[in-house]
Amino acid sequence: MNPFKIGRSYNPENFVDREQEYAELLESVRSGNNVVVIAPRRFGKTWFLQKFALESGFNCLYVDLFGVYSVNGFVSALVRQIFEILRRTDLMAFVVNYLKSLPFSIELNLGLVGISFSKEVDDEALLNGLYELLNKAQRELNERLVVILDEFQAYKNIHKNLAESLRSYLQSRENVVFIFSGSFKHMLEQLFFESSGILYHSCLRFDLNSLLPENDCVEYLVRQFGRTGKVISPDLAKEVYARTKGHAYYLQLFGYELWNRADGKVSFDDVEHAFYEIVEKESYNYDVLIETLGYKYVKNALKLIAEQSSDLFSSETLERYGIPSSSVLSKILKKLSEYGIVEKLGRGRYEIVDPIFEQYARKRFSN
Ligand SMILES: Nc1ncnc2c1ncn2[C@@H]1O[C@H](COP(=O)(O)OP(=O)(O)OP(=O)(O)O)[C@@H](O)[C@H]1O
Ligand SMILES: [Mg+2]
Repeated sequence: MNPFKIGRSYNPENFVDREQEYAELLESVRSGNNVVVIAPRRFGKTWFLQKFALESGFNCLYVDLFGVYSVNGFVSALVRQIFEILRRTDLMAFVVNYLKSLPFSIELNLGLVGISFSKEVDDEALLNGLYELLNKAQRELNERLVVILDEFQAYKNIHKNLAESLRSYLQSRENVVFIFSGSFKHMLEQLFFESSGILYHSCLRFDLNSLLPENDCVEYLVRQFGRTGKVISPDLAKEVYARTKGHAYYLQLFGYELWNRADGKVSFDDVEHAFYEIVEKESYNYDVLIETLGYKYVKNALKLIAEQSSDLFSSETLERYGIPSSSVLSKILKKLSEYGIVEKLGRGRYEIVDPIFEQYARKRFSN
């Protein structure tokens, strides 16, 4: 069976490194601070948070906001998990009694938890009921409770004022710590770290932007092939690393494709072909993304930063890539940074975050 894993649910067997970041997150939560975890798409936020939820020893509630689009859904997801935590303790009597005063009720059906809502209560009352339950459950457990809200950039789908509502709760909460997470850096920065942001001053910032280290990735690739009766040499594993740069998602995807392709021992040709196959498969998404962005000269700018990371603004460079002026280029780069597609490395230096996108931009456009 192919030993590489892609998907939402964290698998300890497939988890590489992140030891330092994990220790840091533990420390922040221990200190009682709320945290915002920010990283580009597919960098491994969800796996990292799920690892925390499962292994930190804290009572954690986890909701992926992307899949939730109403206050009812949001409250249900959290209440259900609170209930599960309490079910493991002797606190059932408390739950049953306490719930009488809340605007929702819980039923157990064949061991499954069902939540139903009183019809006349509005969203605000539901959220307040949830906050009350969080405080109360935390007090009963007498331990810190951690609420993890993944894909927080989607909060408006739940309620346009969810951030305001959470702000009030954060000010009055007791031993409940929040971890927010998302990939829309610009939006999260505005929300949490600009003085006009609704959740300004409420959280510590946690950038999960380091790529996975070479040694661990090489060792992981060699081990996963080895334990399934195939072989990749450390040198070719390094080649895979060089092409994926330690990007979590591509490490698994590349491993996956390569494992399928290789008969027994991976050859350089296998690596080459698997890589182009991945670029090919992802190309369609990138085409769509670029169309959606819709800026003139965006292709020129992407090709430029795919091919060089400095000396971008010289007139010779601009001319070579058909970009009319440095102000046009800086406007596009600013937009691409807001979307998390490119990252500023320093003064006048930029890079495409996604290594496969970079390869695509190099090959797809000709100047
Ligand atoms: N530490 C890790 N080691 C190895 N592989 C990982 C690690 N973290 C994540 N992955 C791989 O990368 C994939 C993407 O990770 P994950 O879903 O956690 O990213 P994300 O940052 O939450 O992405 P998105 O922005 O799309 O929500 C996972 O399905 C898994 O295959
Ligand atoms: Mg995620």
